[in-house]
Amino acid sequence: MKPANTVFTALVLGSILALGGCEMPPPAADQNGYRGQSMGSVANPRTLEMREAANRPPETQPAADPSGPRASTIYQNVRVLGDLSEGEFLRLMAQMTEWVAPAEASCGYCHNLENMADESKYQYRVARQMLIMTRSLNTDWKAHVGETGVTCYTCHRGNAQPQATFRTDPGPMGAGGFTASRQGQNFAARSVGSTSLPNDPFTRLLSYADQIRVNTASPLPAGNPRTIQDAEMTYGLMIHMSEGLGVNCTFCHNSRNFGEWADSPPQRAAAFHGIRMVRDINTRHVQPLAALLPAERLGPEGDIAKVFCTTCHQGQPKPMGGAPMLRDHPELGAPRPAP
Ligand code: HEC
Ligand code: HEC
Ligand code: HEC
Ligand code: HEC
Repeated sequence: MKPANTVFTALVLGSILALGGCEMPPPAADQNGYRGQSMGSVANPRTLEMREAANRPPETQPAADPSGPRASTIYQNVRVLGDLSEGEFLRLMAQMTEWVAPAEASCGYCHNLENMADESKYQYRVARQMLIMTRSLNTDWKAHVGETGVTCYTCHRGNAQPQATFRTDPGPMGAGGFTASRQGQNFAARSVGSTSLPNDPFTRLLSYADQIRVNTASPLPAGNPRTIQDAEMTYGLMIHMSEGLGVNCTFCHNSRNFGEWADSPPQRAAAFHGIRMVRDINTRHVQPLAALLPAERLGPEGDIAKVFCTTCHQGQPKPMGGAPMLRDHPELGAPRPAP
């Protein structure tokens, strides 16, 4: 063998050995489309295990006695949970404390302990709106959350403020004048998978009018025009959705034709409802709460932290591996008649 060949062979062997060590254990590939479509999902089993460990559902207290007089007749100022028995009501208060309140604050995080009916703490008023929102998610949005449902824990995970949220981000500013705004572009932003797409793709999760499209419906400019911005924002949002759920694009699309619904797996329909649900959460429930929060709880742009896919999913296709949340907390579903 010529010396040049030996060097070449050594280089090839060396790089195979070096690169082979990059991901241990080797990524696993699953097929999720019809045979021959090559719709594979690639994942690293070690990452999946770590995510699973970080997404265990919380311990629940044993169910309470549903009989007896209703909370609406026992307490002075109950506006949402009036249909619960006393046992169910106090069990839920204890659970909410574990799910949301800092340990040292306990019930006093939301309540004036001298008078439990007092509404003076902003946390109390926010929590009441959160109860309304959670009930609405479990009843009006079954198309997305199914019978699995959500509790406060799905978003809060033991924190007063959910950790995975987004705020309006105008992006880094330019030098001024003509270059004043970069529209959040040409910086590698984490929110869009370290690409230089616009770094705030989430406005698509706030506005019903925004079109999540790349393809035009007609070749003529008059029919349904799509702009470059539509395409960039769509790809940015798609990267957020993939990361939020810890999946590849092929979890929801047949990459032969991303826009074609008939070729897409059913998960894409679930995601379609998820996008509308997140718009409803933010516009109807979360954004109006900005008026209740003290100024220091708002972001630099004066907006409240908002919900996106990662808030519930946290890197898993189903939040907490699909653990049934509503089953142990039917009081967070539709109001029920007294037994
Ligand atoms: C995350 C906020 C939050 C925490 C923590 C919390 N509560 Fe509440 N509590 C509320 C809200 C909101 C209401 C009103 C519910 C409604 O309108 O249906 C309420 C109502 C009550 C009432 C009815 C008072 C009345 O007469 O109107 C009692 C009693 C109560 N809570 C007890 C507790 C206890 C005991 C704890 C601690 C184990 C606790 N709460 C923790 C938010 C909270
Ligand atoms: C869909 C996700 C979601 C669910 C479900 C949810 N929350 Fe929230 N919650 C939020 C967001 C987002 C905020 C605003 C966070 C911020 O300002 O950083 C918030 C804020 C709060 C705050 C104010 C915290 C503070 O210190 O400013 C309280 C209290 C609260 N939630 C209680 C609850 C309770 C009780 C439940 C269940 C009945 C619940 N939340 C369910 C997303 C959620
Ligand atoms: C969790 C499911 C999901 C994942 C993962 C996902 N998408 Fe999407 N994608 C959708 C849905 C739903 C729509 C349509 C949104 C709507 O109409 O509101 C869409 C729309 C699109 C469109 C626009 C198609 C058209 O009609 O113009 C493109 C392009 C696209 N996705 C590409 C991607 C790429 C690239 C990835 C991976 C980075 C990806 N998607 C990951 C669900 C998903
Ligand atoms: C309020 C919490 C919450 C938010 C926010 C949320 N989801 Fe979900 N999602 C769920 C729950 C709960 C399930 C499980 C439903 C079930 O078991 O039927 C789910 C299931 C799904 C599935 C089906 C997964 C499968 O394996 O079949 C997809 C896809 C999905 N969500 C996409 C999204 C996308 C995309 C977003 C953001 C636009 C989003 N979700 C936001 C709670 C949420």
